[in-house]
Amino acid sequence: MDIDPQKMARYVEELGKLGELPDGGMTRFQYDAAWAQAQDLVARWMREAGLRVRRDAVGNVFGRLPGADDSSTILTGSHIDTVPEGGKYDGALGVLAGLAALEALAARGERPRTSLEVVSLCEEESSRYQANFFGSRAMLGLVGPDEPATLKDADGVSMAEAMTAVGLDPSAVATAKRDDIAAFVELHIEQGKVLETAGTDVGVVEVITGLVWEEVVVTGRQDHAGGTPMDARLDAVQAAAEISTAITRHVAEADKAGRVTFGRWDVRPGWPSIVPGEVVFSMDLRHTVAEDLRARADEAHRIAATIAAGRGVEVTFERLKDETPTVMDARLREVLTQAAADRGATSMDLPSGAGHDSQLMGEHVPTAMLFVPSVEGRSHCKEEYTRPEDCVRGASVLATALHRLAF
Ligand code: GLV
Ligand code: MN
Ligand code: MN
Repeated sequence: MDIDPQKMARYVEELGKLGELPDGGMTRFQYDAAWAQAQDLVARWMREAGLRVRRDAVGNVFGRLPGADDSSTILTGSHIDTVPEGGKYDGALGVLAGLAALEALAARGERPRTSLEVVSLCEEESSRYQANFFGSRAMLGLVGPDEPATLKDADGVSMAEAMTAVGLDPSAVATAKRDDIAAFVELHIEQGKVLETAGTDVGVVEVITGLVWEEVVVTGRQDHAGGTPMDARLDAVQAAAEISTAITRHVAEADKAGRVTFGRWDVRPGWPSIVPGEVVFSMDLRHTVAEDLRARADEAHRIAATIAAGRGVEVTFERLKDETPTVMDARLREVLTQAAADRGATSMDLPSGAGHDSQLMGEHVPTAMLFVPSVEGRSHCKEEYTRPEDCVRGASVLATALHRLAF
């Protein structure tokens, strides 16, 4: 299963130009211009690789290597969208490694027993819309008919309008549903330092973290910054700062597996001479054990309520995402471990602290994930990097696993 290193490097480099920012970060949002160019480029590369290319109603792009039995499909791939100011590898590498793997398998000229497909999924990050795995949800038939009209981006553009602008028909979303997927195998960058620290080539994911996203609103009282004495303020920023610090301390002290991040802040009205009346901020809370995730969320709410009451402000939480931890399929994990050994690559089992399409797919079809090392564990930033030899090795292990499954 020979992966062409030059071609792999070219794939990464050229795709990494679409949505690249002047300082080197990447912003490629669902249905924006860079996204449309990226899906077109991936479709072209799939065609050049000898795959049958198809685009579904939500803009997922598929490249198919038909099998002798064409009734079921072993699917690989990942997402094409990015977080704001993210990197070139998150999602993209899974698409490109899947493409390179199928290209290598197609080049052998043998027909697989079961059909193989690589997918470039339209959305995973919820960057533009609160879309929650829109690409894989559409494949699984889990998108509501009203979602495209209801979901709005920060500029008030509905998803239906954005879809129309890139030539998709929002009323056709239901047609993206598939019933033929027998397995899903996703390659992804690790986005942590476990592999690098251990000096191990690839990782086989045991479980993908559970995650909740909540919007927190702290309401105090807007006042004059000079006229209001320090002991007469209901300062929403001070309350929010104390709440986020206390929750962070609790999660850090509870165990090593929990994570909490307060990444987005909106201070209102947001002016130097005004005591802030309201703060809206995000809480991203994760744990690989469902009960622990629930316990951390409950405790976060209790901590916030206690601090708010002490300061005379109000606090509310609205849940935007609720994803349960997903255990990966045991047989597919074994296939990945074997495939690594076949390629002479060292492998280890590890959990995923990042969310992935595989966690939703894994609730419906047998699913597994292969991780390749992230340099210094950096991700969701412009420094995100995976060495070319690790990209090639990962694609080669993936190709070997797909060969074991489909031939
Ligand atoms: C997905 O990228 C996540 O935030 O884990
Ligand atoms: Mn990501
Ligand atoms: Mn990702």
